[in-house]
Amino acid sequence: MVVNREQEQIKTWFDNIYKTRGLRYLRPLRAYEIFVTILNPKPKSKHLDVACGLGLMLKVLEDKDVTCYGIDLSEVAVEGCRKLCPSAHITHGNAEKLPYKDNTFDSLTCLGSLERMIDREQVLSEQLRVTKKGADICYMVRNSENFTWRFLLKPLKLYNRKGHQDALNFKQWKTLFENAGLKIVKVYPDHWPYYRMMHILKPWKKINTGKIIKFPMRISYAYEFIFHLKKQ
Ligand SMILES: C[S@@+](CC[C@H](N)C(=O)[O-])C[C@H]1O[C@@H](n2cnc3c(N)ncnc32)[C@H](O)[C@@H]1O
Repeated sequence: MVVNREQEQIKTWFDNIYKTRGLRYLRPLRAYEIFVTILNPKPKSKHLDVACGLGLMLKVLEDKDVTCYGIDLSEVAVEGCRKLCPSAHITHGNAEKLPYKDNTFDSLTCLGSLERMIDREQVLSEQLRVTKKGADICYMVRNSENFTWRFLLKPLKLYNRKGHQDALNFKQWKTLFENAGLKIVKVYPDHWPYYRMMHILKPWKKINTGKIIKFPMRISYAYEFIFHLKKQ
């Protein structure tokens, strides 16, 4: 596996964070249900989660009888993912050079990770190569115009530089995906901050975290964007 110095630093940072915080570093399992609603994968279809982390997305998909594949730069993540999803096919590797044949997958996710990657165009071109025509693709990516990023993380340099945390605005993400040849089906604001707040305010209430809701705010205010795209 070829990694440059920046990627080596990202790998080390993630190895350490997964060793020290484990699943506490990531959202809980139910936060991943929304992506299943969006992708609506068929049982036995082949799904690839790029930068799969500890395997939470794949765990939710395995329960829907989807054939799961995952890849991550962090060896600690790969180890954790294999434990959480024993029947999934997990590889230690770099998203810039995917070890899969052309036109393999029916669907693909890349969550909270694309903004951390060095050569995003190369990552997208690899994802397009390994997915089938008409494949559903879902990205969750950070919004640089969100209040937290714009007025706290970025100006106070509080964002995680060693883990290469970054953000783009809605137009920049849209252009990046369209230039790669992807068709935008729909863009949603990240629902998890809302569901987490609802849970804190009304802990007795059962929340369907897989439900897509309509927010009365402009998409540009979203904490993160969820892009549902199709390979044409
Ligand atoms: C914030 S975590 C998200 C993990 C997972 N997608 C989730 O939502 O639970 C970002 C992940 O991206 C992985 N990553 C960063 N750069 C990568 C690359 N070039 N290739 C593969 N994985 C990468 C990290 O190792 C880390 O597991």
